[in-house]
Parts: sequence; C-alpha cells; structure tokens
Amino acid sequence: MIRQPARDAMAAALVALVFIAPVRAEGDIAHGAQAARTCMACHSFAPGRHMTGPSLADVWGRKAGTAEGFTRYSDALKRSGLVWNKQNLDAWLKSPGALVPGNAMGFPGIADGRTRADLVAYLEAVSTGRVTAPDHGLPNLKKADTASLVTAIRYCGDAYRLTTADRKSHTFWEFNLRFKTDSSTEGPLAGKPVLLGSGMQGDRAAVVFARPEEISTFIQRQCS
Ligand code: HEC
Repeated sequence: MIRQPARDAMAAALVALVFIAPVRAEGDIAHGAQAARTCMACHSFAPGRHMTGPSLADVWGRKAGTAEGFTRYSDALKRSGLVWNKQNLDAWLKSPGALVPGNAMGFPGIADGRTRADLVAYLEAVSTGRVTAPDHGLPNLKKADTASLVTAIRYCGDAYRLTTADRKSHTFWEFNLRFKTDSSTEGPLAGKPVLLGSGMQGDRAAVVFARPEEISTFIQRQCS
C-alpha cells in the first residue's frame, strides 16, 4: 500500500504533468526563436531571400532541396527524398551529417532535445504564418544612403580610393577591400555599388555591386 505522503507527491506530480505536458508538446516558441538566431547567420525567413543556406520561409512540409531559386543545394540533400516535417527536422537539427551524409550545411547540430523541439515548433510557427518572420538583418542595398553609395573607385599603388555620394573619400589598402555582388531583390541598383562595413574597424570594408560585369569597368587606374 502507498503511504499518504507518497500519494500526495504522486498526485502533485500528475497535476504538474497535466499542466506542463500540453505546453511542452507545443514547444516553447520564444525559446525556439532564441535558438533560431544561430541559424540566421546563414538563413533568412523572408520568402526568396537566400543566403549561405536557402530561405526557410515555407520550409514546413516542403520537400528537401526544393526552395525555388536556391541553386547551391548538395546532391545529397536533393536526392534525400525527405519532407520537412517534425521528425525529419528534429533529426536534421540533431545531426545534419547523420541524417544526410555529404550535405553542405556547415552546422554541427544541437544535442539538447528540448532546444530542438522548441526550435522545430518555432520553424512551424513562422513557416505557417502564426508568428511573424524575424528580420534577417541584412540592409536593403537599393535604399543605401549617400554615405554608402559609391560614385567612384580609383586604384593607385596598393590603395583603392573611394568617393561616396556625400562627397567623402575613403582610402583602403587593397588587401582590406573586398568586392562582392548581390543579385537578390535587395542588392544594389545597377551601376550603384554600395560600401559596407567601413564603420566597424575602419580598415576593412566591402563594395557590393549589382553584377560582376560592373566591377572592373567601375574601377579606374588613376593616381591623383
Ligand atoms: C553555416 C551556415 C548554416 C547554418 C548556421 C545553418 N544552416 Fe541550414 N543550411 C545551410 C546550407 C548551406 C543548406 C543547404 C544544405 C545542402 O544543400 O546540403 C542548409 C539547409 C537547411 C535546411 C534544408 C532546407 C531545404 O530547402 O531543404 C534546413 C531545414 C535548415 N538548413 C535549417 C537550419 C536551422 C534550423 C539552422 C539553425 C539551427 C540552420 N539551418 C543553420 C547552411 C546553414
């Protein structure tokens, strides 16, 4: 026979289970949102906004390797035949390499099952529109201000001298300036490259062009 205090404890545990279990089964979306920050170094939740990884905008129920406009899927993921449901997302986030050997997601996985469950609940909530998708934090380069709109690039010795639309000039050692392209809808306007990152250390920055063809025509060899 079970002693009274023990029965009380069991009853209390049952009550706790009844109250906690439905919440846990749903997943803690706020905690999931926090966990999703690590994903956002490589993924956006905006439809069609691909980064290192494909947009996760409508990942729930999507066949793996099929986000429209993402051209860098590994063959392994495309051939996996997976559909992104609760079980498969959990297994993918636990160990991408174990679920799909040879995939191209440079992410080791999340060992903690509770964090994964919350993250998967969050992915479902964002994907189905229950929760507003977070901003991906990348600037819209079509709306660059005059301080970052590049009007000229001169190359002399080992230096690039940039002029921006606010008439300021910026000088960089050639090794510290990167040239990039962004062909997405949020990339720069044609012929209007944008200077990024000069506010940070001051010595390293990038100029982003709309298309690769613009890069060498924009840069003039000129010392003065
Ligand atoms: C270092 C960059 C990086 C990080 C961090 C990252 N991913 Fe990925 N992810 C990728 C790449 C690249 C792919 C494409 C993999 C392939 O083609 O094999 C991918 C693919 C995926 C896919 C499959 C999408 C599809 O269309 O089939 C899902 C789902 C996913 N990632 C979720 C996440 C989540 C959730 C996180 C955070 C826990 C995360 N990723 C973190 C780069 C990353």
